[in-house]
Amino acid sequence: MPEDTKKVDMEKIVSLCKRRGFVFQSSEIYGGLASCWDYGPLGVELKRNIKDFWWKKVVQERDDMVGIDASIMMHPKVWEASGHVAGFSDPLVECKNCRMRFRSTDIDTSACPNCGGQLTEPRMFNLMFKTFMGPVEDAASIVYLRPETAQAQFVNFDNVQSTTRKKLPFGIAQIGKSFRNEITTGNFIFRTREFEQMEIEYFVKPGSDQQWFDYWVKQRLDYYVSLGIKRDNLRLREHGKEELAHYARCCYDVEYNFPIGWSEIEGIANRGDYDLTRHSKFSGKTLDYFDEEKSERYVPYVIEPSSGVDRSLLAVLCDAYDEEPADKETRVVLHIKPEIAPIKVAVLPLSRNAKLLPKSKEVHDMLRPHLMTQYDDAQSIGRRYRRQDEIGTPFCVTIDFDSLDDNQVTIRERDSMQQERVPVAELLDRLKSKFSF
Ligand code: GAP
Repeated sequence: MPEDTKKVDMEKIVSLCKRRGFVFQSSEIYGGLASCWDYGPLGVELKRNIKDFWWKKVVQERDDMVGIDASIMMHPKVWEASGHVAGFSDPLVECKNCRMRFRSTDIDTSACPNCGGQLTEPRMFNLMFKTFMGPVEDAASIVYLRPETAQAQFVNFDNVQSTTRKKLPFGIAQIGKSFRNEITTGNFIFRTREFEQMEIEYFVKPGSDQQWFDYWVKQRLDYYVSLGIKRDNLRLREHGKEELAHYARCCYDVEYNFPIGWSEIEGIANRGDYDLTRHSKFSGKTLDYFDEEKSERYVPYVIEPSSGVDRSLLAVLCDAYDEEPADKETRVVLHIKPEIAPIKVAVLPLSRNAKLLPKSKEVHDMLRPHLMTQYDDAQSIGRRYRRQDEIGTPFCVTIDFDSLDDNQVTIRERDSMQQERVPVAELLDRLKSKFSF
């Protein structure tokens, strides 16, 4: 395997995430809650940066895309129309001996993988979380936590089209939490029951759908490379007919070469006119498009690139992680794209000497309105550089005793470990020039 595609152990990523405050187990002091995770101070920054990057690429930089932020709970009829009540199920088998449950498609033996016991016949298990709205727990008050964000784009199609006056093709983007009562979870934040999605529903004229599908497959693969992920660690996989979701005509997954093997980070599906047609039928409201040029009405087809925030974040961490020899020891470094890194600049006085404090504070105060910074004066400068490398901070700024005389500081770059001396007056512009946004 080429040097730059070697894989990191998942345990090292999990351990780094906990040790440095990227991701903690949910409710840890109570023993944890299975498959639920909390993003800590660094994790929340990284996650926000990934979401902002996606939004910038798919909404801000495009004329043909707008965003929404819809409510997680929707009218229960939405999920009947979407086909999720009837069809969003996995085949569940249970061990008659140890009572462990599995998705039958995940196991290739007829005996329990845990204890060898006899398994029950598969029964379909609906993955939607059900709850009740209001004080009465009866059938009339059932609502679901959405298992995908996409349905809000469909049911708001007319609202968005008429208020923005967008012409086809155009898309509606949304980022938000989704919930699935997965039978089996695991591999850290890869498969959880509560997760976040970044979804585009791109509406096109029927007949042009294949062309737009091909376009989005390429766009999305390029997007992950621009997020800083190595091209060699990405691939596309076409779904076989038997694994297509109930709404999909065809689907490609973007897969990342995770420590657990090649696995999906995004699905790109051609949903045809399935969703708009079903919602028209179930709601009684027409959801179509009037093509002024052709003077005709039709129901648009939908191309859907649907990405997972948590899986993208895990891919970014796995891809960026490295252990390198440095000064007769090994440094752990995250080569995260600088724009995505949780902390952009660390401000490090050479020591805690009181004489360095005013200048160090002055530099920190100057930078922090513009860039996410961290101030650290504990332990030796070498250890502090290592600490910043380990969390992927692309630049450290060091204030030393010469700085007090010449008003210059040192910028140290994470990947090359090269240092350059710059006047404080030029520091902010110099640092800003190192980020493309
Ligand atoms: N609207 C289409 C849809 O939801 P999907 O392939 O089921 O398609 C899209 O999900 C993305 O959401 C996946 O590629 C993955 O990144 C993320 N995802 C789905 N289920 C997940 C889970 N249980 N845990 C974490 N991420 C999940």
